[in-house]
Parts: sequence; C-alpha cells; structure tokens
Amino acid sequence: MSNATLPLIIKSLHPVFVAEVTGVDLTRPLSSDVRQAIWDAFNEHQILVFRDQALDDETQMRFSRSFGTLERMEAHAANDYRPGHIAVMTNLDADGNRLPSDHPAMVHRERNEMWHTDSSFKPIGALTSLLHARIVPPVGGNTDFASARAAYASLPAARQAALEGLQVIHRVIAPNEGADTKAYSEEQKKRLTVVHPLVRTNPANGRKNLYVGSHAHEIIGMSLQEGRALLDELTALCTQPQFVYSHVWRVHDLVMWDNRCTLHRATIFDKVKYQRKMHRTTVAGTMPESLLARLPEPVAA
Ligand code: OGA
Ligand code: MN
Repeated sequence: MSNATLPLIIKSLHPVFVAEVTGVDLTRPLSSDVRQAIWDAFNEHQILVFRDQALDDETQMRFSRSFGTLERMEAHAANDYRPGHIAVMTNLDADGNRLPSDHPAMVHRERNEMWHTDSSFKPIGALTSLLHARIVPPVGGNTDFASARAAYASLPAARQAALEGLQVIHRVIAPNEGADTKAYSEEQKKRLTVVHPLVRTNPANGRKNLYVGSHAHEIIGMSLQEGRALLDELTALCTQPQFVYSHVWRVHDLVMWDNRCTLHRATIFDKVKYQRKMHRTTVAGTMPESLLARLPEPVAA
C-alpha cells in the first residue's frame, strides 16, 4: 500500500475544531503531497485524529519529524531523570506493574489533569504533540481538548483589542506548589520561566488565539491577584463546553494537537484497576515572526 495513491479524507468531529484523517498509513513514509495536506488540515482544524495506526516509537518519531525538530523532554520523575524524545504517559512501571498513586512519576503526571499546553514554559512553546495509544482503560482516561482560537473569536472586538499586547509569565512549576517544587531543580526553574504574549497568531492563516493554561502564572504590569483572576477567567472561557472535545481513546489512535492554539488535560480513570500507556512525541515550535523581526541582521563572515 502506498501513501501516494491514497485519497486523504478529512472529516470534522466537532463544530469548532478537530478532524479525523483517514486514507493514510502513518507507519509508511509520506509523499510530500500527503504531508502538505496533513499540515494544511492541522492549521485549519487544530487537532487531527488518526485511527488504527500501528506505530512503534521509530515510526511515530519519523511521522512527527515531518513537521519539525523533536523536543527533548526535561529531566523529571516521570522519565527517571533520563529524558529522550518519547514521553510515556502511564500508570505502569517498566515491567508493566501498576505504580502506587504516591509514586513520584504518578504525582508528576497528575499535573496533566490541569488544562495546559505543552512546553509553554520553554522560550519557544511546542508546535505539536502527538499522542499514541498503546494500552487504554475500558472506561475513563479520555483526553480533553479546548480551542483557544474559538474562544478568542467569541470575544467582542474591544475585549480582543484590550488583551492584545499583554505579556504572560509561564513557569514549569508554580512558586507555591509546596513540597512538590522539588520536582524540578533550581536550574530548571530558572531556565523554564519565560514570557509569552497572551494573544498569538497562526502565521499560516492569521487566526488569533489566547495562549494560557496551567503554566501561565502572572501578567506583566498587573498585581499577582489581578493577573491570576484574568488568567483564570480566560482559561474558563476557553474550556466552556462548546469549545471542548473529549477524545475517547482506542488502541492505536494517534492524536496530533496544535499546542499554539489549544489546551488539553488528562482525565481520571481507575488507576488501581486499569492500565493506560500512551507514547508522546513533541515537535518544537519555531520563533514567532514578531521575535524574528527583532533579531539583528546576520553578520557576514
Ligand atoms: C500529554 C498529556 C494527557 C493524557 O501527553 O502532554 O497531557 O491524557 N497527556 O495522557
Ligand atoms: Mn500535555
């Protein structure tokens, strides 16, 4: 079966975002036409669902690299401080045994249950994450997604204008997260405290969105409380039911989401009774046009 001859079918799964893509075998190399069609659909629909893709880590990484450079994870308890290109979301240890709920890896992964966007604590947030289902529980363990683009579009023009230009401090971990602040080293906490604009623009189509989530902690020029209240209000706006899609996983689903304009969160399942194992690759973002424009001209050698 060759990908070049397959017609790609893109079917909407939700009124404001998310499409299912069929007619492509992601275990095989993509033709440039198919790659382009997937990229265009991604920019339009923000989240793409591919079913029945029997990927392993190699083929998942190859498909992911069609869209850019893979991020290396940060070292933390959930990767045994040995970060690579694959993040494993699971309640199992390497031998397939259930991890106790107070295990550091489980505590670490619980943070995924807050609405967030991947790597917003890095100087350049992630472009896309690709999550592939290897083992899924029979009930629970959905991943919820929210369109921060549809949320922005729902605001009156005057409110959009008032938000434009605001700058947000994102951190890998909140300064007040108690004992858990040990989850990251002082070096990481310093390096992974960054500033991003509150309103982002997709360079491919000019569509704007809010860029918020659990790593967004403060707004520059506002008091802590004022900034917190605005970030909470905007996260609540983005995660209203009409902007949310909940993905019910089947084994061998691959979901590819746009971290620039969507939020996501893990949902609970019975972690004592059931197993769940998902492998994630993450494609690094590129520098926004607005920053590129400020870079000095390269100096001739
Ligand atoms: C992630 C993530 C949610 C889930 O992989 O980045 O947040 O449902 N996962 O496992
Ligand atoms: Mn995530």
